[in-house]
Amino acid sequence: MERRKRIGILTSGGDCPGLNAVIRSVVKCASRREWDVYGIPYGTDGLIRVAQGLCSPEDLKLSDHGYDIPGLLHGLDVLQFLSGSILGSLSRGNPQDPHVQAEILAGYERLGLDALIVIGGDGSLEIICQLAEKGNWNVIGVPKTIDNDVPFTEQSVGYNTAVDTVTKMLYDLTFTAASHDRVMVVQVMGRDAGHLALNAGIAGGADVILIPELVPILNSMVVDQICQRLESLRHNRRKFALVVISEGVKNQDGEKEKYIGDRLAEQIHQRSRELCGVHDESACELTQVDTRSTVLGHIQRSGTPNAFDRLLGTAFGKKAIDLIAEETYNQLVVWRNGQVQACSLDDVMPIIRQCHQENRCPGPVQLDSCMVQVAESLGIYIGIDIANQNASSLPRSTAVPVVD
Ligand code: F6P
Repeated sequence: MERRKRIGILTSGGDCPGLNAVIRSVVKCASRREWDVYGIPYGTDGLIRVAQGLCSPEDLKLSDHGYDIPGLLHGLDVLQFLSGSILGSLSRGNPQDPHVQAEILAGYERLGLDALIVIGGDGSLEIICQLAEKGNWNVIGVPKTIDNDVPFTEQSVGYNTAVDTVTKMLYDLTFTAASHDRVMVVQVMGRDAGHLALNAGIAGGADVILIPELVPILNSMVVDQICQRLESLRHNRRKFALVVISEGVKNQDGEKEKYIGDRLAEQIHQRSRELCGVHDESACELTQVDTRSTVLGHIQRSGTPNAFDRLLGTAFGKKAIDLIAEETYNQLVVWRNGQVQACSLDDVMPIIRQCHQENRCPGPVQLDSCMVQVAESLGIYIGIDIANQNASSLPRSTAVPVVD
């Protein structure tokens, strides 16, 4: 008879669609083995609450019996449809204070856990793995982030839904752009990674997509090339345009700017006027380029998870429980070639740590990736010649050792 295990689960870092699908899957798979699952609130802060006696292990026990919805909907299993995290999340910095760390470790001890499932991005995994080494924890990582920049996995939970969300918003913006012959500049999340901007940009019909991997800095050459592209679009009777810019693209001083999309909209407006001034203004396609900027913001992190994120989250949860059952710990579950696999955190963490030390993104868009080539082939401006000039410094793929 298998010993009844005690599993902890927490969500850490920015929320995204699909977190609850992972939690639901873990609880369902664990209950069938008659294990207990403890849902730790607000990431590592929840362990501090346990250590301080603010909540007891019993308070945190999760059951697979669904939720109390009144009337005939009682028993409806809604968890996988809901965005956010029923456990809450935390995106505060690394707890370096030894007292804080001691409390977190004490909370884990008090729960008497056999293993901890951490649903997090690269930053959270780094924090938890550091604590795990100190506390000798058995950790299973589940990657989640709309940025899709966790290395070794093709998709993280939440990313696919975010691509859908941004794609829909680009579609919706197209009609107002077209009605006013406007250039709509749309700022998309992604921190230092351009996956979301690139993929949603292609699916949403963008004319220009700027991502930090290809166009790290918004300099005058980039703005000139965008204006040239707008000119040729107008020449071909497309009077409006959609310009997608990832928030990771830096300004001309090499600094991140909260509203980099606003700056780009202003620069396109200004530069197009200047360029017209040096031509015969009446014949210039760039007269009266009217720009508007939209920052999509946190709406990208919300919305009901799409089918893929429900499936991915559910399959990741099941895999986490399988790994715990065979006592294969210190693993990250990953999605590769249409399958869920696992790879050792000993292989993943050195890459994440090194990237963080060097201020680099651990899972960037590769210059030779399929969608970069697709965008280029469609004639979308992505700054490929600028990227090629810097090709030697661009991200290269890493070898991926997987368990199965
Ligand atoms: O990492 C996910 C993400 O949504 C990024 O795309 C974005 O830069 C950041 O989190 C925003 O974080 P916050 O929750 O602190 O606003």
